[in-house]
Amino acid sequence: MPKPRLWITRRLSDATIERAMRDYDTDVNYEDTPGTAEDLIAASAEYDAIIPCHSEHFSADVVRRFAPRLKIVANHSVGVDHCDLPALGARGIAVTNTPDVLSDATAELAMLLMLGAARHAVAGDRIVRTGAWDFWSPSFMVGKQVTGSRLGIVGMGRVGRAFAAKAKGFDMEIHYFNRSELPPDQAFGATYHDSIESLLKVADFLSLHCPATPQTTNLMNRERFDLLPKGAVLVNAARGALVDETALLDALAKGQISAAGLDCFQVEPGGNPAFADHENIFMLPHIGSATTRTRDAMGFRALDNLDAFFAGQTPRDLL
Ligand code: DGY
Repeated sequence: MPKPRLWITRRLSDATIERAMRDYDTDVNYEDTPGTAEDLIAASAEYDAIIPCHSEHFSADVVRRFAPRLKIVANHSVGVDHCDLPALGARGIAVTNTPDVLSDATAELAMLLMLGAARHAVAGDRIVRTGAWDFWSPSFMVGKQVTGSRLGIVGMGRVGRAFAAKAKGFDMEIHYFNRSELPPDQAFGATYHDSIESLLKVADFLSLHCPATPQTTNLMNRERFDLLPKGAVLVNAARGALVDETALLDALAKGQISAAGLDCFQVEPGGNPAFADHENIFMLPHIGSATTRTRDAMGFRALDNLDAFFAGQTPRDLL
């Protein structure tokens, strides 16, 4: 039997590509440029499987133009907001993702964003780097202390829980909003709120860990920023769509929030040019899962899903 044909849209980890090459008739986009709509449509005629990243957009329009060959989209991401799942389902194309394996790396990065935003990492780095550090002063770069503060987590899924576990190490008083209350042994002693509004009122630090869906678009809007305690810090290592960026800038301008740590933006790549003038926005270029160990694990999880699919089994992460 010929091996299934697989297209890997981006330069994944060496170990992932080596395993894919061994087990599948694989082509890799070593140029590492995001696959365009035309690339995906062409691939649907040539390949049985695609391993894409969140940079490839499987919109309904694109999927409608697919050839019948493609059988499975095995995402190298936990988020699947780049995939129109009903459209893929209607074409009988299986879709999988890579949950669990990136939770710690992403939570770790959210921790970095929280600490960096609270303690002026951007301005501090610039001042040292440019030689503008001329004296020490007790009123210089005074930030907001994370240890012992109240943390609000929106979304206590895998990443939210991994973040809560890390925040425990900082003795934070953890509160969360989630679709449903977690059993106590999974909640890290956190207090459940049955509405976002109730959570926001107590969140000196607010960290978003929910997926981007039509229901969560602009979840942090003007009204909700106003509910936060004055001077709160926003952390977003989930998806840019969750935050109304104009409302974020207004909340910063009036001191409603004192800082933000962002790994994702409404427009990626690029981010929001209006953020560039604000040193109290600590920004990273969507690198939550970017550790060597996690990238290998994501690649292997995508391949595990393919292996199960082509062995006639139900892939572990079938959506
Ligand atoms: C994910 O897996 O969803 C991360 O955002 C990287 O794509």
